[in-house]
Amino acid sequence: MEIADSRGARRMPSPFAWNGIKWGYRNGKKGGDLMDCLEKHRVKLPDGISLPSLGQGTWNMGEKPHCEKEEVKALQIGLELGMKLIDTAEMYADGNAERVVGQAIRGRREDVFLVSKVYPHNAGHSKIISACENSLRRLGTDHLDLYLLHWRGRVPLAETIEGMEKLREAGKIARWGVSNFDVADMKELWNNPGGQNCATNQVLYHLGSRGIDFDLLPWQEEQGVPLMAYSPLAQGGSLRKQLLSDPIVLQLANQYNATPLQIALAWTIRTPYVLAIPKAVQEHHVKLNAEAACIELTAEDLEKLDRVFPKPQRKVPLDII
Ligand SMILES: NC(=O)c1ccc[n+]([C@@H]2O[C@H](COP(=O)([O-])OP(=O)(O)OC[C@H]3O[C@@H](n4cnc5c(N)ncnc54)[C@H](OP(=O)(O)O)[C@@H]3O)[C@@H](O)[C@H]2O)c1
Repeated sequence: MEIADSRGARRMPSPFAWNGIKWGYRNGKKGGDLMDCLEKHRVKLPDGISLPSLGQGTWNMGEKPHCEKEEVKALQIGLELGMKLIDTAEMYADGNAERVVGQAIRGRREDVFLVSKVYPHNAGHSKIISACENSLRRLGTDHLDLYLLHWRGRVPLAETIEGMEKLREAGKIARWGVSNFDVADMKELWNNPGGQNCATNQVLYHLGSRGIDFDLLPWQEEQGVPLMAYSPLAQGGSLRKQLLSDPIVLQLANQYNATPLQIALAWTIRTPYVLAIPKAVQEHHVKLNAEAACIELTAEDLEKLDRVFPKPQRKVPLDII
């Protein structure tokens, strides 16, 4: 089996990244190799590199020193299970989440697709280079695979594009993208010189929050720009409760011998245009998340879910947390 590395080159898998972990699927009937499930679920970025459609988030990591060991371990288990994309940001724990990621990837950088994000107020000419260099230092690496503008601020898009392209030319980032951009922002980006080099848009997306199914997701599909879904497990609050207690979700969970959140995750990565980045520190959560790639929802399942969590029929403002 060949995989594409962080800079797009083809190479044979390392023993770490593809160590053949067999994670027997719990209902027996579907038993099989988790790696194969993640291999089947891949998302292609515009430059041709393809990634397993499940990665790992890191928001709230690095906040408490006594939790860091567990956080590092969780990320490493996720990598071993094939969730090679790690998403972080200079914002998370004031840079400490990047330090945690740095510990997790030490000695195995080439097995990771590393994503970080720049604050909007650091995304102008004068600051973006040093913001990126600070992230690289905290992460203990010399390059990011993807650098995202965390959300849109006051800095003109043209300036951010220029800064991103400079970082790319200098080899500090392999590609760049945006986050929390709605359709109008994406169209404006597209109309800026170089704006179409954007590799992805990271936005909130899960079964209980599917406003983007109306316009943003179809637009991105048309442009060949995959979406990165954040908070795919609905993090907390009432939306998650609704997902956990819905009778159809419960029925499907029972049918697939899965948890309701695994059904939600399988739903999020049902198309080849969406990659999801669940965050998990508890080991069993990491494993459950990777396992969700083995759940193949049928057209009938999706129809049932559409009935209880319908696709919107009109424009809905982008959900942001
Ligand atoms: N671009 C942006 O503006 C933006 C905004 C928000 C998030 N993000 C990114 O997206 C990532 C994911 O989003 P998120 O952290 O908001 O929320 P999430 O992934 O939807 O949910 C994380 C929560 O779910 C728990 N969990 C994980 N796996 C589980 C499972 N299988 N069963 C039950 N509970 C499970 C985690 O607990 P434990 O940790 O205790 O295991 C944690 O409390 C973030 O970490 C971050 O990297 C980006």
